[in-house]
Amino acid sequence: MTQPVTLLGIESSCDDTAAAVVHGVPGNMEILSSVVFGQTDLHASFGGVVPEIAARAHSERLDGTIQGALDAANLDLSEIDAIAVTCGPGLIGGVVSGVMMAKGLSAATGKPLYGINHLAGHALTPRLSDGVPFPYLMLLVSGGHCQFLIAHGPDRFERLGGTIDDAPGEAFDKVARLIGLGQPGGPAIEVAAKTGQATRFGFPRPLRDKPGCDLSFSGLKTAVLRTRDALVSDQGGLHRQDQADLAASFQMAVAESLAGKTVRALERYLSLSPAAPTFCVAGGVAANMTIRAMLETVSNATGTAFLAPPLALCTDNAAMIAAAGIEQMPYRARDDMTLSARPRMPLDTQSSAMLGSGKKGAKA
Ligand code: KG4
Ligand code: ZN
Repeated sequence: MTQPVTLLGIESSCDDTAAAVVHGVPGNMEILSSVVFGQTDLHASFGGVVPEIAARAHSERLDGTIQGALDAANLDLSEIDAIAVTCGPGLIGGVVSGVMMAKGLSAATGKPLYGINHLAGHALTPRLSDGVPFPYLMLLVSGGHCQFLIAHGPDRFERLGGTIDDAPGEAFDKVARLIGLGQPGGPAIEVAAKTGQATRFGFPRPLRDKPGCDLSFSGLKTAVLRTRDALVSDQGGLHRQDQADLAASFQMAVAESLAGKTVRALERYLSLSPAAPTFCVAGGVAANMTIRAMLETVSNATGTAFLAPPLALCTDNAAMIAAAGIEQMPYRARDDMTLSARPRMPLDTQSSAMLGSGKKGAKA
């Protein structure tokens, strides 16, 4: 039996500066504190995250955030067993800020340092929230991520497929902008869609007939743009009902695309005959009730339990990074001062590179 440990987690890969303290053993952990400083206000007027602004904000806020997490856990740095920090993938300036801070703390205190893949943090969240046993199937759907993974172990993930272009949250945000709704686009579209007709516009379900679990959302976004332009040129503008129908039809296309590929991912996963079949979703898009309900339906149809951890653990946070550290510590070596920050960092190093994903590879 592994001894319980207490880890400090640090996360700064996108637009959330976060620190947390987590205590426990693999599969049985308690969050002692979790502090997340969002930067939405800083980027709002630019229509997206500005990497330079994000990096500066991380470097200014990291020490206060870490102190805040230690204070909330009522612990001193000397009482921490190790430091876990996101070392990629992400916006490089932010990742560097976190890694440098973690190295400094490690050098000053002599505490072991563990570089954590941000995606492993998301993928291991069901272990933190519910102690879900391996192997489980995972769908990460957020503004930056879209992939199906089988989590075989704390550092063994099999990527079954994912988006070859935009992430679904990115598509929600862009489509909201196209049809005159506010940001973040996901919640705005979900609200507008409530009064809309999802069958009014027959938007495409990209890659539906392609075998495997890959998805694509950029063509869907273009289809919405064309439909909007046609409506505007016919009518001179969009009525509120048009906006609602566009939102509902787009949301349905995303939900059906995700559900269709989930059926395939479940087939592959269930062929492993897992003892306690579980399908978990994480990421901001998992907050969408239409999407969530459709995923739950296809999961339950195969007798697979469906799990969506609390939203605060699904979106970016440092508790998942500390938890990933606790999960991985027994299986890997600690890092040292050569730990580097990486903008791209695949979770599954065994799968071959995806076709059609551009020179730099698929988005996380
Ligand atoms: O996981 P998250 O907070 O941040 C990262 O992308 O890492 O996800 C944010 C994304 C945004 O694109 C937002 O529009 C989308 O999740 N989102 C939603 C909903 N709530 C947030 N998309 C669809 N429906 C929602 N209710
Ligand atoms: Zn993330």
